[in-house]
Amino acid sequence: MAPFRSRRSVLAVPASNPRFVDKARGIASDAFFLDLEDAVAPSEKERARDAAAAALTEGGWGARVRTVRVNALDTPWTYRDVATVVERAGAGLDCLVLPKVTEPLHVQWLDLLLTQVERACGLEAGRIGIEAQIEDARGLSAVDAIAAASPRLETLVYGPADFMASVNIRSLEVGAQPPGYDAGDAYHYVLFRILTAARANGLQAIDGPELKVRDPEAFRASAGRTAALGYDGKWTVHPSQVEAANGIYSPGQEEFDRAERILDAYEHATSVERRGAVTLDGEMLDEASRKMALVVSAKGRAAGL
Ligand code: GLV
Ligand code: MG
Repeated sequence: MAPFRSRRSVLAVPASNPRFVDKARGIASDAFFLDLEDAVAPSEKERARDAAAAALTEGGWGARVRTVRVNALDTPWTYRDVATVVERAGAGLDCLVLPKVTEPLHVQWLDLLLTQVERACGLEAGRIGIEAQIEDARGLSAVDAIAAASPRLETLVYGPADFMASVNIRSLEVGAQPPGYDAGDAYHYVLFRILTAARANGLQAIDGPELKVRDPEAFRASAGRTAALGYDGKWTVHPSQVEAANGIYSPGQEEFDRAERILDAYEHATSVERRGAVTLDGEMLDEASRKMALVVSAKGRAAGL
C-alpha cells in the first residue's frame, strides 16, 4: 500500500528553467513536479534531465512530495529520463509522473524499469511511486485497467489540454466549456470516470492545470468543481494558485467540525446504545453517513485542522 501523501497543490516547474526551479523551493505547495515533458523544448530535453537530477540532489524541498514528469512513451527520451533521474537522485525522489498513459503496459513498463534501477542503485525496493496522467481518448477508455496496473501507482492525474485535443473539443481555452455546448458540463464524464477508477483502486485523483494565471476566479471555479466531486488536489502553474488550492481542497473548519460530531455521535450510538442509526440535528445517520464523515475528517486532519 502506497504511503498517504497530501497533494492539494501540485506545482508545475519546467526543469529547464533554473530561475523557476530556484523559486519553486520557496513556494509552499504540497507537491511539485520538475517537468521534462511538454514545458521543455525538444532541444533542451537532455539539459532539463540533468537539471532535474541536480535540483533533487541539492535538496531544499522540505517535506513536499518530490516528483519528476518524464517524457511519454511515444518519444525517444523516456528510458533515459527514468534511468538518469533515479540513478542520480533516486534518494531525493518520491514519484515519477508518466504522461499520456494509454494502456496498463505503460505503467507496468515503468514499474519494471524502476525495479531494475532501484536494485542497481541500492535503493529500497518499490520506494518510487508512479502517477499516471490520463489525457486522451485511449487512456480514458482503458482507465480501469491502468488504475490497477501496479502497486506503485499513487494517483491518476487528469490532463485537460491534451484530452481536449485528443477528442477534438472545439475550444482553444483549456478547461473552458466549448462555445455552443449547452447540455451541461462537457467535462463531467471524464472527471467522474477518472475519479471512480482511482477510488476503485485506492488511488488519489488529481485535477490538471488551469492556465489562466491572472484570473483567480477561473482557478477557483475549476478547482472548486473537482474539489466538490472529491478530487484530492490540482496542478498549479503559478504561486498564487498554490494557496488557493491548499484551501479549496481542504474542508472548511465548520464542515470538519460537523464531520467530527457525526463520528462521535455514531460511535456513541453503536457502542453505547447498540443502535445502528441515530439522529443528529434532525438528520438520520447510519454507517454510510459515518463513512462520508470519515472522508471529510481524514482530509481535515491531513490539512492540520
Ligand atoms: C497536462 O498535461 C495537460 O495536457 O493538460
Ligand atoms: Mg498533457
